[in-house]
Amino acid sequence: MDVDKMLIKSQQTELDAVVMYQKLATRFPQEGDKFKSLAADEGRHAAVLAKLTGKTLRPRKGLADGVNVLVSLLGKKFMLGKIAAFEYKAYDTYESLAEQFAEMQSVRGDERRHGDIVTSIRNGL
Ligand SMILES: [Fe+2]
Repeated sequence: MDVDKMLIKSQQTELDAVVMYQKLATRFPQEGDKFKSLAADEGRHAAVLAKLTGKTLRPRKGLADGVNVLVSLLGKKFMLGKIAAFEYKAYDTYESLAEQFAEMQSVRGDERRHGDIVTSIRNGL
């Protein structure tokens, strides 16, 4: 994938992750603050990417809705494991972007931290 496409795809994914974490915060008030803080981080990531792409994208609800359905079908613990894996995958995916854009280095670091936070929420259930 060329860099421009990768940046736009990443920007969209970050925006979608904001909605996903906001929805999880509403659904699970006990961990609401943690999910809201994750949502805020993803919003910052989307803003970093928006500066790089110069594009304004709209958040999509598909990811949040899908996660919500899967939580109901497969359980919260299962889904948090998937989300942690998704965060660690973002850390890997962002390796090349972080090499090319200095501002993506802290974004990349956040994704690994997110994986750890979501894993700790999962393990605390
Ligand atoms: Fe992110």
